[in-house]
Amino acid sequence: MTRTIRSFVRRGGRITLSQKRALETLWSQNGVESDKLLNLEDLFGRPAEKHLEIGFGMGDALVTMAKAHPEHDYLGIDVYRPGIGHLLMQIESAQLTNVRVVCADAVDVLQDSLPSHCLDAVYLFFPDPWHKKRHHKRRLIQPEFINLLAKRMKSGGYLHFATDWEDYAQQILQVLEAAPEFINCVAAGHFSPRPPQRPLTKFEQRGLRLGHGVWDLLYQRQ
Ligand SMILES: C[S@@+](CC[C@H](N)C(=O)[O-])C[C@H]1O[C@@H](n2cnc3c(N)ncnc32)[C@H](O)[C@@H]1O
Repeated sequence: MTRTIRSFVRRGGRITLSQKRALETLWSQNGVESDKLLNLEDLFGRPAEKHLEIGFGMGDALVTMAKAHPEHDYLGIDVYRPGIGHLLMQIESAQLTNVRVVCADAVDVLQDSLPSHCLDAVYLFFPDPWHKKRHHKRRLIQPEFINLLAKRMKSGGYLHFATDWEDYAQQILQVLEAAPEFINCVAAGHFSPRPPQRPLTKFEQRGLRLGHGVWDLLYQRQ
């Protein structure tokens, strides 16, 4: 399937010298090419729970979760090269062995590179809100995307979204409530209180400074 609508625009962005150097020197240790079907147990070298964060930005939440749960393995997917460089540096300085990084469109990776029912948890924190109505079609969380996640998640696995954009929060709620594969962990039609284990992300801090609210959604794969 050829997709023309993507949920991101490739921003050149400012990349620092150290991020650029990290991409050059550290990619071979924890970076993963996604041009083939991945075997996650081989990738991490052990049979631990596999957690996926989509759109990790600068990677701070991913690193916090990976430090807090050395018994789990964490795969991060993003296309933002300065953030990937930053994350590679953090993995190196914290000597983390349970994080791997993919630089690609998460939709392509889910579609072509991850096997069925391999994920124990999926996190999507503060996805690009594409707030103009004519851009809503670029929003990542749509019924087809949730359907794809359902195919890659294990039964009993957790799906956790957070956004600071109210009408996107309502849209996500609607899409998930209509998805037969997922059950709301709080109660049908309800947002979740912020789970204490969710790290505060960079975008969230910026949103809070601007006075935005935050909506968490927590679902379980049936
Ligand atoms: C608004 S930022 C949030 C970053 C981070 N989660 C946070 O809360 O600070 C959204 C991130 O999602 C990434 N992104 C958007 N669409 C993506 C896709 N289809 N595949 C991978 N990453 C994507 C962007 O590059 C960006 O880094």
